Amino acid sequence: MKFGTACIHAGQAPDPTTGAIMTPIYQTSTYVQAAPGRHKGYEYARTGNPTRTALEANLAALEGAAHGICFSSGLGAMDGVMRLLSAGDHVVACDDVYGGTYRLFMQIFARYGLEFTFTDMSDPQQVRSAIAPHTKLVWLESPTNPLLKVLDIQAIAAVARQAGALVVVDNTFATPYLQQPLALGAHLVVHSLTKYLGGHSDVIGGAVLTGDPALAERLHYIQNAVGAVPGPMDCFLVLRGTKTLHVRMERHCENAMLVAQYLDAHPAVGQVYYPGLPGHPQHALAGRQMRAFGGMVSFRLKDDSLERAAKMCSATRLFSLAESLGGVESLIEHPAIMTHASIPKAVRESYGVNDSLIRLSVGIEDADDLIEDLRQALEAAGR
Ligand SMILES: Cc1ncc(COP(=O)(O)O)c(C=O)c1O
Repeated sequence: MKFGTACIHAGQAPDPTTGAIMTPIYQTSTYVQAAPGRHKGYEYARTGNPTRTALEANLAALEGAAHGICFSSGLGAMDGVMRLLSAGDHVVACDDVYGGTYRLFMQIFARYGLEFTFTDMSDPQQVRSAIAPHTKLVWLESPTNPLLKVLDIQAIAAVARQAGALVVVDNTFATPYLQQPLALGAHLVVHSLTKYLGGHSDVIGGAVLTGDPALAERLHYIQNAVGAVPGPMDCFLVLRGTKTLHVRMERHCENAMLVAQYLDAHPAVGQVYYPGLPGHPQHALAGRQMRAFGGMVSFRLKDDSLERAAKMCSATRLFSLAESLGGVESLIEHPAIMTHASIPKAVRESYGVNDSLIRLSVGIEDADDLIEDLRQALEAAGR
């Protein structure tokens, strides 16, 4: 199956009891057994649910994986991956990670004896330098959140594999439509399904995808033993979202490119961060690694102050001021105060997330309307 066909069909078959074309929402906590131990493959809904099974198979197909394991949120999925490790293990992570990832690592898992080193992975040699004898896992996002650095997944995976470390890619920003990290050498891909895969800002969910049966077995064990599972309604909503992933992503990318070009040429705008702009430091790598450049754009105003940035964020009318990303509607946000507030100011400023950075999740509305909204907001912010 090609990608668009897999979005719609992978993991899904008409319901065997009624022929319903859409996977039913199996809203049940348990399953009746004919005799003790004699059942139809499902015993208890934390362990398994047919709606979840369909979603897991669908997501696995999209990432080119053999196995999918779903969780109640993106962070739940990351928590599941981190439980593969033991006290004393070391993790190398990219510096520009989602704030919640940083918080999970430093406020939760560091207390259980895991060690973390954050490094700028735009140079894969820095990954090599950060690896220690007890490094068990290398964690990266590409493009990164919120500075949209593009990391060379293949090169980083090669370095990590040489050291015997697991390679995990948070593919939330790119989605499998734009890049498939398992084919580039990653062992595991994690997703916040809340974003592009759900696509409609109406569900929270997470997933881990892998081609490795031993890792999948351990993750299924963790999923059941820890219990951070998604409900069947949420799985249904994500399944509904993935059906249009390929079509939505095309428009997200098209619109984001137009928005980035508009901002780049605007006299009141300073730096624009978008991998699709020829001036982006990893533009060529993004062109090789990704099918298109994604729907996220970050930028700073020329008047690089918190006051102006806050004014800009409050002046848009179509871009709603809200955390999250990847829905059909456009959002604007202020990472330092919103999505990345859980990273200490000195740490985030050390790699460029200062108080004047603004992040856009460019939706699939008409681009002309989005650009007109940014035009009037930039004018208002300048007053
Ligand atoms: C890149 C990235 N990964 C993971 C997450 C966490 O996902 P969730 O909010 O579904 O727990 C987010 C949330 O914003 C994110 O932006």
